[in-house]
Amino acid sequence: MDLEQDDIVKEAEAAASSAEDSRALYEVKMQYLGRAGKVTALMKRMKDIAQEHRPAFGKQVNALREKLETLFASLETLAKAREMAKKLAAENVDVTMPGRHFARGALHPVTIVRNRLIDIFAGMGFEVFEGPEIENDYYNFTALNTPADHPARDMQDTFYVQGGLLRTQTSAGQIRLMEKKKPPIKMLSPGRVFRSDDDATHSPMFHQMEGLVVDRGITLCDLQGMLDEFVKAMFSENSKTRLRPSYFPFTEPSVEVDVSCHACGGKGCSLCKGTGWIEVLGAGVVNRRVLENCGVDPDEYSGFAFGMGIERIAMLKYGINNIKLLTENDVRFLEQFKD
Ligand code: DAH
Repeated sequence: MDLEQDDIVKEAEAAASSAEDSRALYEVKMQYLGRAGKVTALMKRMKDIAQEHRPAFGKQVNALREKLETLFASLETLAKAREMAKKLAAENVDVTMPGRHFARGALHPVTIVRNRLIDIFAGMGFEVFEGPEIENDYYNFTALNTPADHPARDMQDTFYVQGGLLRTQTSAGQIRLMEKKKPPIKMLSPGRVFRSDDDATHSPMFHQMEGLVVDRGITLCDLQGMLDEFVKAMFSENSKTRLRPSYFPFTEPSVEVDVSCHACGGKGCSLCKGTGWIEVLGAGVVNRRVLENCGVDPDEYSGFAFGMGIERIAMLKYGINNIKLLTENDVRFLEQFKD
């Protein structure tokens, strides 16, 4: 019996052409080459064939199987390639599409200046100490030698809360630290302070940086030397300081410290209001009474203290003319301070 091999192959080809994917193609393949497939059925017919025709018949079936296997192998390769192309097309990324915008945050100018101040003074051996924002009259005023009738205690200047007050100055930290730690002391105390005050250069909440040094033989000269180093690091290598006599209850003598104007180099401009100097902080030699109040012997030890407004330093450094800009949180303003 002669097998119409080519017809069967053609028929398989036709059946395979309607298979949509490699799974369907496999089903078709099984109809021919599977255990219940047509080729296997042909082999089973062997027993009905006369003995002498069997080898020839077997050869034909084998040849047919090989043809079909070759056919399906190439169809499978094609189907896989088509499927891969489809998958890749689905995963295609349009590299010309505009990217997503992520707004990058930045430190607030007050934080930048605070960190810079800590850096500078830490380099001189100062340690950071943070006192509480809710204080009482003793730490904020009395221990700092502020008389009972001092105007700073007025309701108009100080926010009183139940059981205390919102500290008006980080100087309160001097007392808290000296009660805990014996000299030598080199303290830096940054923090929020509160005052009933509100205009273009004053805000009811602002930040101060307090400094305190107590040891044997500390004088006003040590303060001046340290301030010179500080303004050089903060403003410019050519910055100079000038001390003017002033008054604070907790220091004696007390000074107001000016720095040479970094905008005009001391010639006089709008920033320094034509004087060539800008006031940056208050300072002085720690009043004996303050040391006594903290159990430190003023005949053995002496010290100097200073306090500055961080917003003020930031405004001077960056040329900011209104303190409100620092609390309005307008991103257009804040994003100018990215480093
Ligand atoms: N506490 C003062 C203020 O708020 C600033 C100050 C002046 C602090 C002189 C000091 C100092 O430690 O010695 O205006």
